Amino acid sequence: MNVTPWEVEGVIDYSKLIEEFGMQPFSEVLPEIENPHILMRRGAIFGHRDYWRIVKAMKRGEPWAVMSGFMPSGLPHFGHKMTMDEIVWHQRSGGTAFVAIADMEAHSVRGLSWEKTRELGLFYIKSIIALGLNEDAVIYFQSKSPHVKDLAFELSAEVNFSELRAIYGFNSDTSLAKMFVTAVQAADILHPQLSDFGGPKPVVVPVGADQDPHMRLTRDLAARVSIFSFEPIEKGLRIRSRKGGDYLDNIKKLDFEKKVYEEHIDIFGDVEEIERAVREIEVNIGGFAFIPPSSTYHRFTTGLTGGKMSSSKPESYISLLDSPEEGAKKVMRAFTGGRATAEEQRRLGGEPEKCVVFELYSYHLIEKDEELRQIEADCREGRMLCGKCKKMAAELIRNFLKEHQEKMEAVDLSKYTIIG
Ligand code: TRP
Ligand code: SF4
Repeated sequence: MNVTPWEVEGVIDYSKLIEEFGMQPFSEVLPEIENPHILMRRGAIFGHRDYWRIVKAMKRGEPWAVMSGFMPSGLPHFGHKMTMDEIVWHQRSGGTAFVAIADMEAHSVRGLSWEKTRELGLFYIKSIIALGLNEDAVIYFQSKSPHVKDLAFELSAEVNFSELRAIYGFNSDTSLAKMFVTAVQAADILHPQLSDFGGPKPVVVPVGADQDPHMRLTRDLAARVSIFSFEPIEKGLRIRSRKGGDYLDNIKKLDFEKKVYEEHIDIFGDVEEIERAVREIEVNIGGFAFIPPSSTYHRFTTGLTGGKMSSSKPESYISLLDSPEEGAKKVMRAFTGGRATAEEQRRLGGEPEKCVVFELYSYHLIEKDEELRQIEADCREGRMLCGKCKKMAAELIRNFLKEHQEKMEAVDLSKYTIIG
């Protein structure tokens, strides 16, 4: 398998991906989450980084945010709907939502005109609002956000070519703009922590697993542009200054048990309290004090005709803007986990884990666990054949698309904060 932000190939083994990328399995935090989303419960979200920061902030009623972005290079489809649903769920669970339309990325990496990225971007915005995003969200086009562009420039001072080559496989033919959009994406992710947006806070970024290289770079940059660094020691934290030793004088004033050394200060006590106090000092002296962002990773959406769903293959996906009829037709043509003949299927049963239609049911179309379990059992035991099953899915898709598009029509953008 090959998984990068620009390419996903081969059969994806998600446990291997967790291991290779150094993510954590989502099952580990699931029991801590109140009313988890179906994508969480049903295993679509399989991995995370530092999601415990979000769980804690939720439980304590402290401020936190959710942020993700969409590259407007084609129409929004059911793969994007996953991220949209995740943003909406987190907003409802108490996070401030930030939604980026990655027009700089679409323009520089995919060569779309600014007019086109704007036109497509609005479809994404209306779609996520139709899916339930409320007015408290900050929605923006990358190219129109001074916060994001200024921060991207600042972050780019900390990145050199060898690092980008190691993370993304860039080479001497890679354009400067394509390199720069990696800093823009890092800025997307970190800007909710700027003082204009309330300062440092846990931020979760729901994304597809291919975006993890961006997360690794961003988490690293968060530490590199901030003044103080933290290193766990026995019963406390070791604090260093990345911007010269003078800054450590500010830490000496902290009311904790501590040991002062030439190059660092060891502070003893509750680790979270120490972190909080040090970040507060950093903000007061004008530093970023970024908390490394958390992330969740969802599975790739299987294309209707097998392989990964891709915006460059219209027959591989159902767009949220396809006519209800077209959507239903695509479902009828989808690959299933059915057997070669009806006789065989009655005898052996179907294979829902290999079925695109079942994936649609599970991640998008069926809310009630009981109902989903029934379909799964009927399929596995050969009681239901694919023709009938697909008809049912087609009907659900038809209704979903009709309703979704009506909601999109009714969206009143003037009620929302849209930077762009
Ligand atoms: N690069 C992402 C994609 O291709 C889009 C994106 C831009 C994004 N900025 C982001 C995703 C910030 C998460 C967070 O889909
Ligand atoms: Fe998929 Fe339904 Fe066929 Fe089972 S019966 S393989 S769930 S289409």
